[in-house]
Amino acid sequence: MIGGGSFRVRVHSDREAASRALADRVEEELRHPSGRRGPVFALPTGHTPIPLYRELRRRHREQGLSFREAWCFNLDEYWPIAAQDPHSFHAFMREHFWSAVDLRGERCVIPNGDLPAGALAEHCAWIEERIRAAGGIGLAVLGLGRNGHLGFNEPGSAPDSRTRRVELDAVTRIEAAREFGEGATPPRHGLTLGLGTILEARRVVLAAFGAEKASIVRRLLRSRPDPALPASFLATHPAAEILLDSAATGEGGEGA
Ligand code: GLP
Repeated sequence: MIGGGSFRVRVHSDREAASRALADRVEEELRHPSGRRGPVFALPTGHTPIPLYRELRRRHREQGLSFREAWCFNLDEYWPIAAQDPHSFHAFMREHFWSAVDLRGERCVIPNGDLPAGALAEHCAWIEERIRAAGGIGLAVLGLGRNGHLGFNEPGSAPDSRTRRVELDAVTRIEAAREFGEGATPPRHGLTLGLGTILEARRVVLAAFGAEKASIVRRLLRSRPDPALPASFLATHPAAEILLDSAATGEGGEGA
């Protein structure tokens, strides 16, 4: 454990070890929900959580870990994008998690990238209402954008922002272009749970792995809460934890 902000920072030797620790946090919320209405998660997509979902699938298969009572709210989605688009976060969740565990379909909620602009405000308000009705987010698992974003809360996002449509930052669009590959143009917008929505979670754990995250992690650990670095608002949360692998600290290589 190293210092930084007012969050707890834990460093694991590699991303597999860090992901097992992350899976332990998820399992804890499943077995002992922090709210009275059962386990409620906010969940990320991206490269970071892939070993987490692999570990959760394994625990489900080999140890009977059940997600039957859980609500899972995804942090974000591109807009516009069809759910069937292989680059959608919807497709990612289907492939890495939803299809391999016993979650109930109606309890997996992801912003709908397929709606017309005029329907988005109502849809975002509906997600906020579903979160409230489920008892509030018990555990938010977060990745970290290279520009410090959480979900698609890009630099400039207010700490009390709610679920909404956002314009993607240039850094995010460059990352997205890499994922979409040559010849495809990624959407210019996204839908995201708000920073305020995320910060209301009873527990928050942010994961950042690999040397490519070392510089934004270094900035995060030194920053005061600042809209220019949305993840810095985690320091205002009473129970936020940051899980790193040693490469993300800027010391040692992957798997060191
Ligand atoms: C993406 C997503 C975030 C994710 C972040 C990091 O743009 N909108 O929710 O946490 O960037 O992605 P990765 O884990 O691939 O580094």
